[in-house]
Formats: sequence, C-alpha cells, structure tokens
Amino acid sequence: MTALITARDREAAEIIKGNDRGGYTVPTKGLYPFQWNWDSCLVALGWARIDEDRAWTEIETLFSAQWPDGMVPHIVFHRPDPGYFPGSERWGTGRTPPTSGITQPPVAASCVRRILEGAADGVMAERRARALLPKLLAYHRWFHGVRDPDGVGLVSVLHPWETGMDNSPAWDDALGRVEVAADLEPYVRRDTQHVNASMRPTKAEYDRYMTLVGFFRARGWRDEITRASPFRVADVGLNCILMRADRDLLALAQRFGDDAAAAEIASWIERSERAFGQFVDPATSMWHSIDQVAGGRVPAATHAGFLAFWAGCGDDRLLALLEAWIAKTRYAVASTAADDPRFDAIRYWRGPIWAITNFMVGEGLRQSGHDGIARRIRADTRELIDRGGFYEYFDPRDGAPCGGSSFTWTAAMWLAWAGSEPG
Ligand code: DGY
Repeated sequence: MTALITARDREAAEIIKGNDRGGYTVPTKGLYPFQWNWDSCLVALGWARIDEDRAWTEIETLFSAQWPDGMVPHIVFHRPDPGYFPGSERWGTGRTPPTSGITQPPVAASCVRRILEGAADGVMAERRARALLPKLLAYHRWFHGVRDPDGVGLVSVLHPWETGMDNSPAWDDALGRVEVAADLEPYVRRDTQHVNASMRPTKAEYDRYMTLVGFFRARGWRDEITRASPFRVADVGLNCILMRADRDLLALAQRFGDDAAAAEIASWIERSERAFGQFVDPATSMWHSIDQVAGGRVPAATHAGFLAFWAGCGDDRLLALLEAWIAKTRYAVASTAADDPRFDAIRYWRGPIWAITNFMVGEGLRQSGHDGIARRIRADTRELIDRGGFYEYFDPRDGAPCGGSSFTWTAAMWLAWAGSEPG
C-alpha cells in the first residue's frame, strides 16, 4: 500500500469510497446499482491502495454468492433497485442472495495474487488469500468442466454479457442468428435512462440478450444449457483471462502447498495451451473468437485478441498487429480497429477504449518484456483519465469521455496502475 499523492489519486479514492455499499462496490451509481463480478475483483486492486482489509472484503463478498457448483455469478443483487433492468426476478435463479445465472471473465485469481504480492499487511493477506483458494479452485473447475464438457481446452460463453464486452462486433453474427422469442416478455430498458442511447447496445441486441436469459431460465439454469444454448462462443478474451487466472491460481496453490490443486491446474493450462492455436487466423496471425454453433472463427477482430499477452501467449506477429492497430487512432487501445466498418467510436465495446482492458494488455506486454509499447498504453490511459475524468470508456480518436461517470473500475485502474509515474 503506497500513499495517495496527487489530487487525482484522492479523487479516485473518493469515487471508490462513494460507490461503496458496505462490503461491495457498485460499478457506478444509477446505471449499475449491484455487485458485478469482474468489476469487483478489479476494483479490489484500487481498494488495496486505500484499505487492504476492504480490498479482501470486496472479493470475499463476491464469493459469498458463489453457487454450490462453483459458478460465480456476474451480478449479485444484494438489495433491490428499480433503476436497473433485468433485475433479479427476471433471472429467476432462486438463489439467496439473488444473483444472475451467468458468469463473467474470471479475473478473481489474478487480482488475489496481485493484492497478496503487493500487500503491506502480509500476514492478513496470506490468511485471506489462503481462505479464498478453495473457492477460486471450485470456480475454475466449474469453467473447465461445465463450460468445456468435451474437454477440448476452450471454455464456452453462452451470453454476450459473460464476455463482459456485451455488444462487441465479434458477437454480431452469432447473436444475430438467435431468433427473438415470439413470447418474449415485454421489458423496459433502464440503461438508456442513465446514458445516451448512442453509447449503448441496440434494441435488436437487447431483444436477443433477453431471449437468451428466458431460454436459460426455462431450463432451470442447469448444466445442459452449455450444449443447448443457441449462442455458444469460445471467447478469445475470456479464455485468455482464464488462462492467466489459471497461471495465477497455480502460483497460489504452490505458495500454499496444495500439490493436488497445483497438478490439476497445471493440466488445465497444458490442455488450453494446446487448444489456443485455434484462435489464430493463419492468414493474418490475429486471434479471433470461435463460434461453436456455426463453427469456425468469427470474422471480427477486436482488442480481446490482444489479451493473448495477458495470458502469456502473445508472439511477435501479434505484437506487430497491435502496433498497427494503435497507429490508427490518437489513443490506444481501441476496442475495434478504426478502419473496420464495424467500428463505432463511442458505442460501448465497438470502438471505445477501456482502462481495464488496457491494464491487462499493458501488464501482459510489460511482463513479457515489451516495455516500450506497455509504457505507451499506460501513458495513454493516464492521459485519458487525467483529461476526461473517471468515465466508463473513452473515444479513441480524441479521448472524449463516454458512458457512465464516476466509474469505480476506472478509478481503481488509476490507483492500481495508470496513475503511477511512467516506469
Ligand atoms: C449491462 O447491463 O449493461 C451489463 O453489462 C450486463 O451485465
């Protein structure tokens, strides 16, 4: 834990504290009034600069809603809030506390390891990380089992919300094929009451998001939905995040002397490393998601492919593609390449820059020895936040802030990474 120095550091801390609801932190007031899975884990990195005890509590609260089969839901509805749709009744998962029935990119183990290794209070960190180990292991075991029922080394996502990158162009075809249910219950979106509709997913996408929720709910959220889902994708982003989290979990298991867990995790890593070649388009060397319903790689390339560096799998060809990608906009790293017809500079995951993916790509690059480009990504993130404030995402052309304001994970990325002096 290092001192908060600048006015921006203090502002970031105030945002995080202001979004604290007691044991968990909402991503932002209004738009996202509950606990989200990957938000919380990444936000814990920011808490670690302010209050290490509170950082551990953030992750523990999330795991208190873990399902008996190991799944960690993407939303925990700790208390009702009419300002968000779809609320707990629409999910109908029957859990206490109420939760959604899908998950999100599993950054938890990576965040636990990072907080543990940077902890000022090492004794507390050891105790709390050790207590989380079996829960993390159960979460990863669920992914590698339930979401990879044939043991191919790639895990499936069943809903674009599981990827965290809801309206990415990578899902256009796979989601477009999902037929909107004829008996889809009517609904009123709340997100567009908080944020300009031009920055959010479209109605056509929402109808399909809700169709998928209804499909899974009708099947009681049972494991069979993996094979039955009309939307089933091996998301390159989530698989890379899981690979990285497996490596971090392995380090935790070794540190705590759990040999059986370490062997199990190592076998997942080996299997996935063998399968990851399928993400790579041999013609371009870019990493793409795989549509497991239609078969084959999806045509759209997105910044999720660069998470291969976070996974420890990036190579020089991918590095060259990243350099070319970055050269197309003023700021790095746009979520879709600026010369792609699907690029939309301000619409959520179709072009804007996100501090959290910049963190993962940037840290992955630094850890694999690509310091120059890693520094560039971090400096850009710092400038975007310093100029625009703690927004949800940023226009890669001019840095204009977009989406929700006073955004918790943007503040956390400032404190944990981007706001520190260039190294
Ligand atoms: C939303 O509501 O936009 C979320 O991303 C879904 O979890």
